Amino acid sequence: MTDWSPADYLAFADHRLRPALDLLARVPVADPGRVVDLGCGTGTLTRYARERWPSAHLTGLDSSPAMLERARAESPADITWAEADIATWVPAADARPDVILSNAALHWVGDHDALFPRLLSALAPGGVLAVQMPRNYGRPALALIKATGMNGPWAERVADLVAKPPPVDPPDRYAARLLGAGVTDLELWETDYQQILPGPPETIADFTRSTALRPWLARLEDAPALQDGFLAAYRARVAAAYAPLPDGRALYPFRRLFLIARRPG
Ligand SMILES: C[S@@+](CC[C@H](N)C(=O)[O-])C[C@H]1O[C@@H](n2cnc3c(N)ncnc32)[C@H](O)[C@@H]1O
Repeated sequence: MTDWSPADYLAFADHRLRPALDLLARVPVADPGRVVDLGCGTGTLTRYARERWPSAHLTGLDSSPAMLERARAESPADITWAEADIATWVPAADARPDVILSNAALHWVGDHDALFPRLLSALAPGGVLAVQMPRNYGRPALALIKATGMNGPWAERVADLVAKPPPVDPPDRYAARLLGAGVTDLELWETDYQQILPGPPETIADFTRSTALRPWLARLEDAPALQDGFLAAYRARVAAAYAPLPDGRALYPFRRLFLIARRPG
């Protein structure tokens, strides 16, 4: 798959920043020694973490060279950047973080039954896992990706993506995983952000292109005409599904799940 595009991702930087700050604001740790931001992307949240915890040893970890390059270029030199896969990341025994942050990244990593207990056990005793993941599945913007996938000359190439279940489960499943792993302090909530985008309803397709659409477009990378056709068909469906506001702009509701769990001390 082609690498992430920092420019496309940051086109909606304000809307993407707000949940990251809502997550950071709820982390109940005053002065952590080590903090890791998993799936740090361009480092936006990592830099806010640096402001909140000026003396912490802070690491941003991501698997995308392009996102990490942008993060490095725009951040203070006292943040460490690591290119690694969250699915296999294990901190050194003497460098367990007191806080693991992860904003809008863990939905790209599979097997949450194994992942969440593993992240908890990666923490120092008493450490905190703070996660935000999108849970907008079933909403038109996401459902129409599948509808587009099923209906067009690309259908065969994306059939397995159409059949894939949503990567983020309902909140009770995370509660069960974390309480089952011994957590006692647990906070879970969802926020449905009523995002007003800067253009008409088809702008929602631009929002989605740099994230949820990436695996679908990657399947059509060797066939640019199919890729263009897929994008055009999706844009048309999205434009028809969302009514414009009176001033012509799009209202794009986006639900996100937050969880904050403390590993027993
Ligand atoms: C939607 S971006 C979020 C970036 C950042 N956390 C933010 O809030 O702006 C998702 C990021 O997760 C990273 N990512 C996805 N799967 C990953 C994995 N298995 N290991 C490490 N990083 C991953 C991507 O490279 C991308 O930078």
